[in-house]
Amino acid sequence: MVRLDNITLRYRPNATPALNGVDCHLAAGSFSWLMGPSGAGKSSFLKLLHLAVRPSAGQLHVMGRAIHTARRQELPALRRRIGVVFQDFRLLPHLDVLENVALPLRIAGRGERQLLADATEMLRWVGLGERLKARPEELSGGEQQRVALARAVVARPALLLADEPTSNLDEAQSRRVVALLQQMHRLGSTVVVATHNQWLAEENPAAMLRLEAGRLVEHG
Ligand SMILES: Nc1ncnc2c1ncn2[C@@H]1O[C@H](COP(=O)(O)OP(=O)(O)OP(=O)(O)O)[C@@H](O)[C@H]1O
Ligand SMILES: [Mg+2]
Repeated sequence: MVRLDNITLRYRPNATPALNGVDCHLAAGSFSWLMGPSGAGKSSFLKLLHLAVRPSAGQLHVMGRAIHTARRQELPALRRRIGVVFQDFRLLPHLDVLENVALPLRIAGRGERQLLADATEMLRWVGLGERLKARPEELSGGEQQRVALARAVVARPALLLADEPTSNLDEAQSRRVVALLQQMHRLGSTVVVATHNQWLAEENPAAMLRLEAGRLVEHG
């Protein structure tokens, strides 16, 4: 599903690399925790995987495509099969909660009735069935995070990436979010979850990727 061969990522030509010589293989259908201190490169790792940045050196394959050599116009179709929960949510402020979650289904060309039903069901699942018409700015940080999660999973992505999806949530809600990520995993998605949440990872044993200062120091 994903393969990194000796990947280095620099945001500027002579900057310290955010990722440095990373080798890693994520099998289709795997579930991985991604951990490491602040600044270690977790978000950068996920940005590579959802094709928001290109590697400075090394080879990156995502869903069978060679990203390091792919043409720019090949990427959007691939990106549509990837769901992302961003660390800063990135909800669209002018759309209500329901439309934010329905958006990936609209882009995929689903029928109106089905897409509204699917988005509504997903929002019920994350406990926001009563807030369909709210704007993102009217929600708490934890509520916005759950909308971001619903949007990431609603189109059943082949690859699901979550960047600290429980950072604003209490214990009960964090468990619920992980249960939803695991359900996506059981349905066949390959899942990578960046987190600082040690107890949550311990409660839910899975493959562990650990970054330190841009290097992958644990992979198993
Ligand atoms: N857009 C950017 N431009 C320049 N440098 C960046 C950019 N994004 C990240 N970096 C740098 O890359 C390094 C890794 O950052 P990254 O955001 O990947 O860390 P992280 O592990 O996700 O940290 P956190 O736990 O705080 O979210 C840091 O030194 C950071 O300053
Ligand atoms: Mg981060």
